[in-house]
Amino acid sequence: MKKVLVLNGPNLGRLGSREPDVYGDTSYDGLAKRCERTGLDLGLDVEVRQTDDEAELVGWLHAAADDRTPVVLNPAAFTHYSYALRDACAQLTAPLIEVHISNPAAREVFRHTSVVAGVATGTIAGFGMNSYDLALQALHSLESR
Ligand code: DQA
Repeated sequence: MKKVLVLNGPNLGRLGSREPDVYGDTSYDGLAKRCERTGLDLGLDVEVRQTDDEAELVGWLHAAADDRTPVVLNPAAFTHYSYALRDACAQLTAPLIEVHISNPAAREVFRHTSVVAGVATGTIAGFGMNSYDLALQALHSLESR
C-alpha cells in the first residue's frame, strides 16, 4: 500500500476541546482514526502525526522529501508566517495537499495569507474534518493517474 503522511501543526492536538464552534467536537484521536479509515478505503497506508514544534514538523517534511512520500499538511498557525515550513514544503518530491478544517479566507485578516499555498499541489479548506477525506481522495487520484 502507498504510504501517505498526514501532518498536523500546533494546537491541533487539542481538537475536541479547542474552540468547538470553529473546529467541531471531534477529538484529535478521532481525526487520526478517521484519516486511517479513509486511507484504508482508498488503499493508502496513512500515518497521522501532530506536533506543536516547528523544528519537528520541518524534520518530518525533510524525511518525506527524501522518501518521496506524499503529504497532507494542516500547518495550523504556521500557515500564516512560517517561511521555514514553506521552504521545507518546497523540497517535497511527491504531491502536497494543504488542508484546513475552517475556511481561513472567511476569518481574521491575518489568516488570509498562506505562505504554504504557493508550494502546495492544492489546498482544501472549510469542510470540517471532511477536508482531510477530500485531501486523501485528491492524493489518491493523483497517485492513480
Ligand atoms: C487551521 C486554520 C488556522 O488559521 C489556525 O491557526 C489553525 C487551524 C484550520 O484547520 O482551520 O490552527 O489550520
